Amino acid sequence: MITVSICASKHYDVCIQRGLLPQAGEYIRNVAGGMTAAIVTDDTVDALYGEVLRESLQAQGYRVVKFVIPHGESSKNAANYIALLNYLAEQSVTRTDCIVALGGGVPGDLAGFTAATYLRGVSFVQIPTTLLAMVDSSVGGKTAIDLDAGKNLAGAFYQPDLVLCDTDVLQSLPADVFADGCAEVIKYGIILDEELFDRLKQPIYPQLEQVIARCVQIKRDVVMQDERDLGLRQLLNFGHTIGHAVEANSNFAVSHGSAVAIGMCIAANIAAAQNLCSQECAQDIYDMVRAYGLPTNTNYTAEQLSAAAQKDKKRSGDSIHLILPSKIGRCEIHKTPVAQLQDIMEVGLS
Ligand code: GLY
Repeated sequence: MITVSICASKHYDVCIQRGLLPQAGEYIRNVAGGMTAAIVTDDTVDALYGEVLRESLQAQGYRVVKFVIPHGESSKNAANYIALLNYLAEQSVTRTDCIVALGGGVPGDLAGFTAATYLRGVSFVQIPTTLLAMVDSSVGGKTAIDLDAGKNLAGAFYQPDLVLCDTDVLQSLPADVFADGCAEVIKYGIILDEELFDRLKQPIYPQLEQVIARCVQIKRDVVMQDERDLGLRQLLNFGHTIGHAVEANSNFAVSHGSAVAIGMCIAANIAAAQNLCSQECAQDIYDMVRAYGLPTNTNYTAEQLSAAAQKDKKRSGDSIHLILPSKIGRCEIHKTPVAQLQDIMEVGLS
């Protein structure tokens, strides 16, 4: 097993190993006392893995209750958040009990925000079942729900007590959902680790545990320096500001990973056009994104993308931070006036 220890406002381990799910109860028992474990999952994941997790928790003496949401981003809403809080109260879940998120980013974010606020905070374990959740959303403590005005607009920084990544479960992922996670993996290589980027030129499956661990280590190193996203952590948003604009324009029909892939390519174009990186660097980014079956461009116009990007929650006043590559393994944060955003997008799309 590979274990990555994270020491942020909470100290916790991210454990990565094939076949971990049936042993989840034992690992959870080591970090969370209490009588009750409340599983939060979606209907797709529940059908595949809900019973395995329940049995594993019951074997450790937990009373198990379960809250199942329909799969998909639209479930990460305020109504489900309130319903989950009420469910936990009805089930007499107490301060010493724990919430276990089983699934991708949607159950993870909803469960995490609920764990942060129910009784002012209860123990929280993440069992991510997508590559994207393993390398990004389950680690680092960002939790949120979506509001009508946008994605992740209400949330909290709330670190989990444990993250369990069973890579066997990735075998049940549809190819496009797996590729979504690959976009985040590629991102880590571009922003901070050329060696990881080079490693991704080889098939990913035989090195999955190592690649996930490397991504988690990179995120750990960033989060431990800037847990509350005030500086360095913004690097993790490479491809995301433009990606969120693509997602928003598509009304979330374009998946997060595909949108980030497009965002990374547009950002690479911008950087190359401004001589911040070489043409070869931008081409390497394109080639890698394409090699993982991800899209590299969009039909949305610069006007549409900049209008959506201006609503990004990371906008501060009249400027927005764009993350642009200077070479593979190094990116920089560029404070960009929103008034210039459309022109810059135009450059990125050309
Ligand atoms: N997903 C970006 C971050 O955790 O900061």
